[in-house]
Amino acid sequence: MLADVGAADLTLDPDDVARKMSPRTKVIMPVHYGGQPARMDELKAAAGDGVTFLEDVAHAPGATYRGRPAGSLGDVAAFSLYATKNVTSAEGGVLTTDDEGIAERARSLALHGMSRDAWKRYRASARSWRYEVAEPGYKYNLSDLQAALGASQAARLEDLNARRVRVAGWYDELLGGITEIELPTTLPTTTRHAWHLYVIRIRPEQLTIDRDAFIEELRDAGVATSVHFIPIHHHPGFAGLGVHPGDLRATDAAFERIISLPIYPDLAREEAEYVATAVAAIARRHRR
Ligand SMILES: Cc1ncc(COP(=O)(O)O)c(C=O)c1O
Repeated sequence: MLADVGAADLTLDPDDVARKMSPRTKVIMPVHYGGQPARMDELKAAAGDGVTFLEDVAHAPGATYRGRPAGSLGDVAAFSLYATKNVTSAEGGVLTTDDEGIAERARSLALHGMSRDAWKRYRASARSWRYEVAEPGYKYNLSDLQAALGASQAARLEDLNARRVRVAGWYDELLGGITEIELPTTLPTTTRHAWHLYVIRIRPEQLTIDRDAFIEELRDAGVATSVHFIPIHHHPGFAGLGVHPGDLRATDAAFERIISLPIYPDLAREEAEYVATAVAAIARRHRR
């Protein structure tokens, strides 16, 4: 079951979650979209007891919600260390949880489903060659090389995020006067934003071109952008989810308007100015 996002912040909407809760709801998976923590307290209140929260922290390592780190706000959290993320091990990820049962099961599943005892033997001592596969699992271990890269990247997280914050601040300043676009909304609960993405939204009612044409003109001006994301229910592979037109109104409306501008730690002030000048010129050229 998919729930809508909030129209302003584009994280999971607690009101829609409340509407869609059913006795079959076991897990809720909020995405800390773009590096901003979802509205966890409201989501938990909407969900009530007995529901597991799995945070998707792929965009938000180092972000904080009311002073608490993303990844510590639910029952279990998944971080991505994919090459495009704020910190990377080239490929791979991290789970965090304070639930010993979940931790144990994840360790076992990541290592072919070996039972805890076998896992311990395998790890801690070469004395016994015996092991036991308790259930079919996966080979989801990070290689040592990747782990070394991930560890050195993790040490740089604060610095890399601080530089992203600086770039976002430049965009806020440089794009602030362009009325044909909307800038990202930062929630009052976001005490630190990880700025994985800087997503502007065009205001189609004020422009004679649509989002796709806006992106093409940015590309012609030498500015590479992207769209995060095509909603899941727009893909044929997920047609079976039973989403009907109008069910995810805010998601669909946002999808028509969003553009992710370039953001990365090394982006220079002059580059942000170049991007902002290009956005302003396109908006001016196609003002309604
Ligand atoms: C919001 C979000 N969740 C999860 C993932 C998946 O991460 P990974 O590719 O490491 O599995 C991504 C990757 O782009 C993402 O953007």
